[in-house]
Amino acid sequence: SIVDAELSSGYHFRPPKNWINDPNAPMYYKGWYHLFYQYNPKGAVWGSIVWAHSVSRDLINWVALKTAIEPSIKSDMYGCWSGSATILPDGTPVIMYTGIDRPDSNYEVQNIAYPRNKSDPLLQDWVKPGHNPIIVPEGGINATQFRDPTTAWYADGHWRMLVGSLSGASRGVAYVYRSRDFKRWTRARKPLHSAPTGMWECPDFYPVTVGGQQHGLDTSVMSSPKIKHVLKNSLDLRRYDYYTVGTYDRITERYVPDDPSGDKRHLRYDYGNFYASKTFYDPVKRRRILWGWANESDTAVDDVAKGWAGIQAIPRKVWLDSSGKQLMQWPVEELEALRGKRPVILKDMLIKQGEHVEVTGLQTAQADVEVSFELPSLDLESAEALDPALADDAEKLCSVRGAGVEGGVGPFGLWVLASSKLEERTAVFFRVFKAAGRGKPVVLMCSDPTKSSLNPNLYQPTFAGFVDTDIAKGKISLRTLIDRSVIESFGAGGRTCILSRVYPSLAIGKNAHLHVFNNGKTDIKVSGLTAWEMKKPLMNGA
Ligand code: FRU
Repeated sequence: SIVDAELSSGYHFRPPKNWINDPNAPMYYKGWYHLFYQYNPKGAVWGSIVWAHSVSRDLINWVALKTAIEPSIKSDMYGCWSGSATILPDGTPVIMYTGIDRPDSNYEVQNIAYPRNKSDPLLQDWVKPGHNPIIVPEGGINATQFRDPTTAWYADGHWRMLVGSLSGASRGVAYVYRSRDFKRWTRARKPLHSAPTGMWECPDFYPVTVGGQQHGLDTSVMSSPKIKHVLKNSLDLRRYDYYTVGTYDRITERYVPDDPSGDKRHLRYDYGNFYASKTFYDPVKRRRILWGWANESDTAVDDVAKGWAGIQAIPRKVWLDSSGKQLMQWPVEELEALRGKRPVILKDMLIKQGEHVEVTGLQTAQADVEVSFELPSLDLESAEALDPALADDAEKLCSVRGAGVEGGVGPFGLWVLASSKLEERTAVFFRVFKAAGRGKPVVLMCSDPTKSSLNPNLYQPTFAGFVDTDIAKGKISLRTLIDRSVIESFGAGGRTCILSRVYPSLAIGKNAHLHVFNNGKTDIKVSGLTAWEMKKPLMNGA
């Protein structure tokens, strides 16, 4: 049954029980990584939200601490919703978060909390000063759609931060608030940015380095000409996070995406189940790290029966691709410490039309797989033609041309969490199209869970994104983190990512199999495949 303990997750972040949603205020402080998150102490569905708190030395092994922030003052009595941390110049970490201050409507205000004892590296106690709330919805702001303050940044004598909102019926907005002293905040006349997308939840705004270097920048780094900014918003209506890359002008306090159609195109961190994400700057390894929430896709009844719901994706390093057009993401290197000592390695294996090859010699219910594909005689003439009507709709394209539909070049990729007779399997794969009028072939990456489980009543959406890579060079890579109910995949070195949740009924524990498949006409070569079993880290006592 779906309640089977094997169907939990082994190395993805979660507490032992109950509902979780957004990651909040990730930070590094005095030797420890901190993660707070939206948590319902009373059950496995959303409600009565508090901030749970865990700490880690390595972003992989986690220890749960006591609740950090819970309703206790007038301005957060009915909920402590999402927010962010800012490290002040003297090293003090400060949290700003949204409070619900009345029982019968979601009237939203912004609050602040300080550590009681700065010398406690675990930051166990948080104090809410008497000047809360620091911001209330004034001047015509939609008071029930006004939440999720960002990390603040500092320039020219002012702190700034964003609050996500909705203006009118459908305009997503990021309001800028400014302060000299971090106490009194006033709104800038114009928002940083807005677009007709619906409510912007959990905005995130940060600088990235231009030129393809992977190191991250602290949120207040502003002045160099060698930086761009990223603005990410979580679309309440569509349940995904999208971002644009652009330029921030701190004099006018406005942000302009480089791609004028960026707010329509919706580049995503992840084309699967990944929401309400937030980044932070890690000063130890000089990188920016992204956390994102992956909800269950079973039923609420199942969640209540199993007693928990929600995980966080593996933290990912993010950086700007050398093209300057999109972000790249890769699981933090610390994850590799969980890899077992004896990986299974395959080399130079040809997979012909309609063939599949099982990867044996390890359990693959909880594994990390890296594979590089070569298209030996890249015969693009045999690639399928891209239907212009679907040319901008990866998801649709993948749902009509799923893993089971024979193609020209591809579909090729992995079947993960497959049962012994393949009644159950989730396909993670690429498919190549030739597109008239485009310089290069179009590469689609999909995660097709339509055969993932014999259990009925599961939500099994096909997820897909395009991969901006030059496949004509004949190579593409895939890394997939398999973790019982989680399939988290990184295409082409982190160019396109897809996380899906699946709930097999047979492909559990030792009965979960892994295959490489090719359902296209062109032969595919696996130039290398390495698969590791993954150990279970300390996971909050779960
Ligand atoms: C996003 C969100 C936030 C809000 C929080 C409440 O998932 O709706 O906008 O602060 O969750 O739990």
